[in-house]
Amino acid sequence: MDISRIREDFPIAERYNYLNSAAIGIIPKSNLEALNKFSQRRILEIPHPDLYHNEYLKLTEETRELFARLIKAEKDEISFQPNTSMGINLIAEMLNWKRGDNVIVTDLGYPSGIYPWLRLKKRGLTTKILKNRDGLIDVSDFEEAIDQNTRVISVSFVSFANGYRHDLEALGKLAKQNNIYLVVDAIQGLGYLDLDVRKCRIDFLTSGNYKWLMAPFGAAEFYCCKKLLEELESPHVGWFSARDPFDLTLSPYKRSRTARMFEPGNPSFLSIFGIRESLKYISRLGMASIRKTIFKLRNTLVEGLQELDTWVPSPNGERHGSAIVFANLPSCVGEKVYAALKKRNIVVSQRSFNGRSGVRIAPSFWNTHEEVEALIDVFRELTSK
Ligand SMILES: Cc1ncc(COP(=O)(O)O)c(C=O)c1O
Repeated sequence: MDISRIREDFPIAERYNYLNSAAIGIIPKSNLEALNKFSQRRILEIPHPDLYHNEYLKLTEETRELFARLIKAEKDEISFQPNTSMGINLIAEMLNWKRGDNVIVTDLGYPSGIYPWLRLKKRGLTTKILKNRDGLIDVSDFEEAIDQNTRVISVSFVSFANGYRHDLEALGKLAKQNNIYLVVDAIQGLGYLDLDVRKCRIDFLTSGNYKWLMAPFGAAEFYCCKKLLEELESPHVGWFSARDPFDLTLSPYKRSRTARMFEPGNPSFLSIFGIRESLKYISRLGMASIRKTIFKLRNTLVEGLQELDTWVPSPNGERHGSAIVFANLPSCVGEKVYAALKKRNIVVSQRSFNGRSGVRIAPSFWNTHEEVEALIDVFRELTSK
């Protein structure tokens, strides 16, 4: 990977030491042309039907295909939603619950992966929240929690909090053995980690584009496996989700047979065109090369931090590790660490993990070892005070 060439695509890197892609990813400069073209035409040209059909809809379908390839799904299994959170809500709304059913989640999940289930308490659903032990949750923890009323296991592919990566293949196997749906929020892993929905037997997957997939806000992908597309009904309907969206005669509603049934109206074309450019960018660089670069950076980071007796509850290695690292300096609260880093133009997120305050650090493939070393230097200064 030619890092100096790549850095030209991320001009922000000249001004900031940005180690915060787990919060909001930086969009490569190559997106500008496509996004400018979209904005210019939208503002300066008449929105002729040809433009809508030949460009907006055509490119949207191409993007569906590109995203499907990323997770080894089929194009017809992908729909566009406004954000990751909406995907979880769709599932919570559409499954046919019985009083006494339960869902298993973990305390490494994001609030949007938990609130939609908790809200169903009034319909008799119990949410079991598995607690991590020093940042880890094992498949056996899920196995123990499962009972005959468990309907769903819902996890983040990669935890936003400490970067723990679930073994989705093992979870998928366990879920299928017990006739349970597996729901995955993949926003913190897609873009640098491989994911195969078939191999992992994932029933539903939801992922926004604005972090590691480096696209504008406004669109997220929602995958629903083919079999369930046939069995389930979307809780939201509109003209766009109909089998023929352009039949506006108020004939009886027939839903699309594809995942478009989850799209009641026009999606965010701007965000979709952004993700299309970023998916092409990622595929030009190669996912393996992106992943390798990120893991090298995170290893340098973790080794440097651990030499300074920093508490790092983020697993190493590709099996359970990721681009996300939580760091707590026992002698220094997170606010102070965050402020010291900010003073040096180093951008991270201030967070707490298991009651300890610290910072979350998330290098991407366009970051350099010098940038990671600069962060470690600040930790060193703080420990020597
Ligand atoms: C794991 C995880 N899921 C969901 C979200 C929120 O995504 P969205 O804004 O697309 O709903 C975040 C944001 O940080 C996250 O880390």
